[in-house]
Parts: sequence; structure tokens; C-alpha cells
Amino acid sequence: MRTIRIFDTTLRDGEQSPGAAMNIGEKLQIAKQLARLGVDIIEAGFAITSPGDFEAIKTIGGEVEGPIICSLARAKDADIKRAWEAIKDAPKRRIHTFHSTSEIHLKYQFRIDQAEALRRSVEMVKLAKSYVDDVEFSPMDATRTDIGYLCEVTEAVIEAGATTVNIPDTVGYSIPSEFGALIKTLHERVPNIDKAIIAVHCHNDLGLATSNSLAAVLNGAGQIECTINGIGERAGNCSMEEVVMALRTRSDLFNADTNITTEEIMRSSKLVTKITGMSVQPNKAIVGANAFSHESGIHQDGLLKEKSTYEIIRPETVGLHKTKYVLGKLSGRHAFKTRLGELGYTLSDDELNTAFERFKKLADQKKEIFDEDLESLIAQEDTTVPELYSLEDMHISSGFNEQPTATIKIKIGGEAIEKTEHGDGPVDAIFKAITSITGTKSNLIKYEVKAITGGTDALGEVVCSLEEDNKSVSGHGADTDIIVASAKAYINALNKLAARKR
Ligand code: KIV
Ligand code: ZN
Repeated sequence: MRTIRIFDTTLRDGEQSPGAAMNIGEKLQIAKQLARLGVDIIEAGFAITSPGDFEAIKTIGGEVEGPIICSLARAKDADIKRAWEAIKDAPKRRIHTFHSTSEIHLKYQFRIDQAEALRRSVEMVKLAKSYVDDVEFSPMDATRTDIGYLCEVTEAVIEAGATTVNIPDTVGYSIPSEFGALIKTLHERVPNIDKAIIAVHCHNDLGLATSNSLAAVLNGAGQIECTINGIGERAGNCSMEEVVMALRTRSDLFNADTNITTEEIMRSSKLVTKITGMSVQPNKAIVGANAFSHESGIHQDGLLKEKSTYEIIRPETVGLHKTKYVLGKLSGRHAFKTRLGELGYTLSDDELNTAFERFKKLADQKKEIFDEDLESLIAQEDTTVPELYSLEDMHISSGFNEQPTATIKIKIGGEAIEKTEHGDGPVDAIFKAITSITGTKSNLIKYEVKAITGGTDALGEVVCSLEEDNKSVSGHGADTDIIVASAKAYINALNKLAARKR
């Protein structure tokens, strides 16, 4: 049985999804979860692109134990030096450098010939190698690159010190038989290929990213680059949960597995959804809300008799636990802490105090507190940003023959300001009041409400995405009152925008 390395790029390629920008705290939170999940490598960012990305990589390198921490770098001196600065304190570190190799990119984007691209690639791999042993090189747009030249580049970068060569299907153009054959050809024609791990990085433009990655494994690839929920540039990247569960479920065929603790998949998926504001479609494989529900009577009949009739993966294997009533108003601190522990959360005393306070408030509003409610409480705790604006009070009135009106009080740097506005509906009225108090000029690009658990007293969760100056962020709010949750989400998004300006 081979072990396929999982290289997670949720924090780099995943963050390239429109609206998925994350702050340092959020990236750290995801990185910690990726470590619990058991990924081998975390691509924590692209150090040269912004001071925020640089800091995030550095922080993750200092605080997250287990996986190799990696920064992306173009094949340029300054990029590689910056990547090194960002990862140097991490106990296990990697520089991932890349250069385009396809004729289309070299001719139209770089205006250089193959020899020059080869020279730059080799030189930059050597530079990266002078800082760190673990160097990955990607010939970008590999699937549209002349195969002879791709073999030549692969051989040369391995000779220069690359320990992993990653073959990206940058524009999601390949199909499984072709991509598998490409990986096979590299193994046959590159004489020093056994000195490096061959990785694959597939985009999902034709919906084939997972299939292509699996075809590559069948032909010798030893590392898969992927993201949680398959988020990423355009149609996204290979989805981690799909590729991992395909390998696990069909290990008979692949004769390969990964180091992933699959029971952490659902929690990772939910966390990424919450932080990026990118929801998962209900019928998405493995992590979609319907992935384990059976509607047809014939299927239900079969399942009741024997699970394997219609179930190829046990829901518990991916961390899906049945919603059950766990805590309520009378539950004490000890029960609260114990249940959090059972769900895999270890909080410091301070974090526990704040979370318990929130829990008590929630328990006053809601009879039964489910595991999902607890997870939402903890996530709120984790995703806080510096609060320039804080919601102090709100009052709403709306009805059949009444124009919806919202009076909101917000504290801005110690001063409380109150305003009243009207709107088409109560949410419109509160958003107008918040905008008028804060004087902000962002556009609302997404507003989504969902119930975390069932029942009319369910905790409602709202995601608001705002855009300003070509930057977009997603804010979250949870409350038993969805109007309050909406105000919290809007203010959370404004705080994130404000934090990005500082
Ligand atoms: O898709 C791509 O080619 C990339 C490279 C940087 C590996 O993301
Ligand atoms: Zn990519």
C-alpha cells in the first residue's frame, strides 16, 4: 500500500476564489484544523503578495505542529527570499516555486523562449535549495506543454535539487486518460525521476479535477494538491474530501491511502464554509447536506436490512454524527467543557469562560443545544476580528401595513451612535442604519441565511459578503433571531474590511 501525500492549498489557491479572502486569525484557525485532519503539507500562502500573507505564513509556521509549512514563490529572486523569510522558523518547511512552460504562456505572457524558461527554473530551484532542503517546482500549464520539453524541465529541476515536481493542470484542460498517460510518460522518460516525488495539481474547469488526480495516482503520482470543499481559482481545485475518500473507499483498486484522519473531514468542510462564506452545494460528494440522506423508499428499505446495500461510506467515517440533544439551560460548566472535549475542542480557561457565557445566553433563548450549536459558538469565538464597530442595541418594527424601521446603536471607538432608517424589509432597514452610522461605502454582494439546527428556536446563521475597492470579505453572525444575526454578520464584515485597510 503506497501512502499518497496530501498537499493542502486551501489557504493559497483556495483563497484565490472570489470573496474567499481570509485574515491571519482565520488562516491560523484553518491551518490548525488541517493539522488535526492530518494533511502532510500546508501551502499557507504566497509570501510576496502582501504583508498579510507573509504574516499568516510566519504565524502558521510558528504555531501549527505536524505538517510541512510551505510558501509559494514565482521563479524570481525576491519571491524566493520572501518565501524563505516567511517559513524559516517553521520546524518543517518548503519553498514551492513555479514557472510556466507551455508555448502559449511563454509566447504571449512571458515573451521568452523555452531555453530561457528552463534557465530561470533551474536557477531559482538552486536559489531555493540554498535556503531549504525541501523544494517543490511546478511547470505551470504543464498539460498544454510539449511533452519532450516537459521531460527536459523535469529532469533539469530534479538535477538542480527539486525534491517534488508538481504537474499542474492549470486551466483544467486535461481528461483522465490523457493526464494519467502524461504522468506515466514522465516516469518512463525522465531518468532521475526516482529522486523526486511527482505531485499533481488539477483544476476543475471541466469537472474532472478529482478524476484526473486519481488517474495520476494510478500512474505513479505520490502527492495530490487539493483544497477543502474544492475551492480555488475559477471552478476550483481538486476537492480534498473527494480524492481522499475515493482512495480510502477503493483502496482495493488504488493500492494506496493517505494519512488523513477522515473523521475530521466534515468539521474541516464546515469551518472553511464558515470562514470563506462559500457554501457547499447540497448534492456535493462527501460533504454536501444530502450526501448521506436516502430519499427513495426502495433505498431506505435496503438500508434498514443491510447498510452496505446503498451506502459505500459510513457517515461516521467522515465525522458526520447524528444531531442529538446534548445540553440545555441547566447544564453546568463541567458538562459544557466535557462535551466540547468530546467534539475535539480544547479551549484555554479564558476561551472557555467567554464560550460558556455565550452558551448560557443561548440556552436562555433556546431549549435544546445541539452539537452544531456548540460548534457555531466556538467558531464565533475563533473568527473574531478587531472590533472597530460593535453592536450595542437594536430595535426593529415591521408588519403588514407598516414600513419596516430599524433603530440601531453602534459603538465606534468608545462613542455610541444611534440612528433610525426605513427599508423595503427589516434586513434592508438595519443594513441602511448600519451604513449610515458607519459611513461605509461597501456593496453587499451576498446575503445568505440558514438554520444550524431544526425547530423554530434554531440558531440562525447569516453570511454577508461585502465588496469595497475590489476587495471582498465575508462576515458571519449567529443568533436565534435572524434579524440580529444579520446585523452581526454585516458588522463582522465591516470590521474585516476595516482591518484590511489598516
Ligand atoms: O494552477 C497552477 O498552475 C498553480 C501553480 C502555482 C502550481 O496554482
Ligand atoms: Zn492552481
